[in-house]
Amino acid sequence: MEILIRSGAIQEDPADAIIITVFENSRLLGGAQAVDAALDGALSELVEDGDFSGKEGQVAVLYPRGAIPARRVLATGLGKAEDLAIDAIRRAVGAAAARARDLGARQVTVEVLDARSKEIGLSMVGQAMVEGCSLALYEYPAERKEVKDEREIESLTLIPPDDTADSLAAVESGARAGERIAAGVDLARTLVNHPSNIGTPTLLGETAQAIARDFGLNCQVHDREWAEEQGMGSFLAVAQGAGQPPKFIVLEYCPPVMEGADTLVLVGKAITFDSGGISLKPSENMHLMKGDMGGGGAVLGAMKAIGAIKPPVRVIGLVPATDNMPDANAYKPGDVVRAMNGKTIEIRSTDAEGRMILADALCYAAQFDPAAVVDVATLTGACVVALGKGVAAGCFSTDDALRDRLMAASQATTEQLWPMPLFKEYREALKSDVADIVHTGGRYGGVGTSAAFLKEFVDYPWAHLDVAGMALDPLKARNSYTPKGATGYGVRLLVEFVLSW
Ligand code: BES
Ligand code: MN
Ligand code: ZN
Repeated sequence: MEILIRSGAIQEDPADAIIITVFENSRLLGGAQAVDAALDGALSELVEDGDFSGKEGQVAVLYPRGAIPARRVLATGLGKAEDLAIDAIRRAVGAAAARARDLGARQVTVEVLDARSKEIGLSMVGQAMVEGCSLALYEYPAERKEVKDEREIESLTLIPPDDTADSLAAVESGARAGERIAAGVDLARTLVNHPSNIGTPTLLGETAQAIARDFGLNCQVHDREWAEEQGMGSFLAVAQGAGQPPKFIVLEYCPPVMEGADTLVLVGKAITFDSGGISLKPSENMHLMKGDMGGGGAVLGAMKAIGAIKPPVRVIGLVPATDNMPDANAYKPGDVVRAMNGKTIEIRSTDAEGRMILADALCYAAQFDPAAVVDVATLTGACVVALGKGVAAGCFSTDDALRDRLMAASQATTEQLWPMPLFKEYREALKSDVADIVHTGGRYGGVGTSAAFLKEFVDYPWAHLDVAGMALDPLKARNSYTPKGATGYGVRLLVEFVLSW
């Protein structure tokens, strides 16, 4: 979909559909008023009759029949004006865009809402509108023999609320950022949606190479032998039972001015399929473990957006990628292995594999002298039990300022995050008789003990995001712009975190 920005009057736009955003039970504003006048009050009649109140989620379709050049007018509800938050704009435009697509519209135009009186600038609104529209239209390119439906929106045109050069520039910059971020989210969704026989570590490596080529990043996709040379005994323990060759992906974005720039490292767990290994999972929902690379997918998606946006900070993406499989060569409960920092780990459940591959990736991150390292992982079912499915990711951090930055990014993007504790008792639960540490702490506090384990491998400001409940929901859409299946959770959050560094 092409994103166009131009000044003008929305009532004169010849699109297949124009989108009008309307606050609940309030009078029409700006372009909506002009459209209403041209339609001889049809829009306000709809509101007065109560057929369309502007409540969030409502979309009404009107046919101007020649009164204005547009074929259709889609009024979409923003909810109450006094409650306006940026996400209401994403959701309203998302709902309208999906409807426009279903109606077969190809050219769609929307007027950028003027929310400056609410401290929401035109750039933010432009970004939210593009994100809402692009993200709502996402569809997984499913592996079907025949393509079912070819309905697709070709262009979205944004019209600023006034024609000053400043407004045009603000909308332009927000819209371009939104476009790049949405492309990153879509990439993460597609990687998570891929079945594991397609979304292999090799494919993730090729994807990273393609991002590097497209945006001028540095990229290395390392193999098993390289990991052996590095002493990554923890990552390799998981990979040793995998038929698919494991990959350790390193993507580096350097800002135009490197001098004085901080380095941020993003680490993403990419278990391309988590069978549980020898500690085999029950078969019932095992197919969902194709999504156990949601953290790695989010990091690749974020790197793609960052490569396109080019912020003034150096960003490294690390993605350890492997299947976790039962096999004659697989690692076993009771095994002891040595991580890259020399610490030995006693294995209890081979299903606690995510922390194993992260341990070595976190050790590897230290060499970049990072100002902060953030890892993202579908790490524990316990986190889903604690915070809910599709509700929030858990945020652990050794650094209050870093956690505050992540919480602020969460606020700005509405990708919900909640702070979690690193109590010393969690570490005590990981004492081993035969090694430096056991990698699981038993039934209680499973999310806390997993984070305490990871903490043993860091010596820099660090945060860990447990996104187990957030990456993939096969049953329901979260909102108008987050369809069911892979959500792409974490991409917008990570990009916002990096852009506001
Ligand atoms: N990938 C799973 C965690 C998970 C659960 C992700 C649900 C998404 C949805 C992880 O590797 C795992 O198996 N964790 C175990 C840890 C346990 C063995 C200590 C768990 O949570 O049960
Ligand atoms: Mn597991
Ligand atoms: Zn896992």
